Amino acid sequence: MPGAGDRGKALARWLGAGLLGLLIPMSLSLEVSVGKAAVIYAVNGTEILLPCTFSSCIGFEDLRFWWTYNNSDTPIIEGSVKNEKSDPRVMLKDNDRITLEGTTKEKKNNISILLRDLEFSDSGKYTCHVKNPKENNLEHNATIILQVVDQLEEVDNTVTLIILAVVGGVIGLLIVILLLKKLITFILKKTREKKKECLVSSSGNDNTENGLPGSKAEEKPPTKV
Ligand SMILES: *[C@@H]1O[C@H](CO)[C@@H](O)[C@H](O)[C@H]1NC(C)=O
Ligand SMILES: *[C@@H]1O[C@H](CO)[C@@H](O)[C@H](O)[C@H]1NC(C)=O
Ligand SMILES: *[C@@H]1O[C@H](CO)[C@@H](O)[C@H](O)[C@H]1NC(C)=O
Ligand SMILES: *[C@@H]1O[C@H](CO)[C@@H](O)[C@H](O)[C@H]1NC(C)=O
Repeated sequence: MPGAGDRGKALARWLGAGLLGLLIPMSLSLEVSVGKAAVIYAVNGTEILLPCTFSSCIGFEDLRFWWTYNNSDTPIIEGSVKNEKSDPRVMLKDNDRITLEGTTKEKKNNISILLRDLEFSDSGKYTCHVKNPKENNLEHNATIILQVVDQLEEVDNTVTLIILAVVGGVIGLLIVILLLKKLITFILKKTREKKKECLVSSSGNDNTENGLPGSKAEEKPPTKV
């Protein structure tokens, strides 16, 4: 029965093509990444690498890339990459403290930038943009936040201090609540005892002498009879 086998093969081919049709648009699309950390910290006066890589399955040609700062439309650095065998060429740069560090050879697709002599005012949002003419001029971007700080430890200390303060505060609050509860039950007990004393004293001395007021009350009538 050669017909059935052929039909099976045709079906498999058809299914395969369908699957590919689903997968290709996803894997073809340009992707831009700035790594896992959403926020990076750096000390003022030092330098920091702002990472950015991209990937594109069908490759690229005359790819354009640029970095922007804090939602501004004007790039802080801008360039292009002719093809996969060439390194990026910087066309515009608005600051001498910025240099392009990556390479696009050997599928590195790395367009990271280095910021030198960091100032506190360099803190903010840095967005890496890539546009690939070979993919319908598809544009993608990824953003990383830079925090320029005095000392890296200080940030950790602040967090630790906050955590310690919160934990200490909670424990302190619990102790206060426990003490209050003790105090309130103590006061309640005292007032109840006072009330009892009043009741006792007004009902006579008989009950208190034996220390067993309940049983005494029951025993009393028979002794009288
Ligand atoms: C960082 O800033 C502080 C406070 O403005 C300053 O005292 C310190 O010298 C700066 N550090 C560097 C390396 O520039
Ligand atoms: C990109 O290039 C820079 C500079 O050479 C390097 O430090 C960094 O690790 C590279 N990033 C990736 C993801 O390869
Ligand atoms: C950029 O944004 C950060 C916080 O998002 C802010 O601290 C900084 O002042 C902004 N810089 C400029 C030049 O607007
Ligand atoms: C980043 O790309 C998204 C779409 O992928 C777009 O909506 C957004 O405006 C872009 N961000 C910037 C800063 O260009």
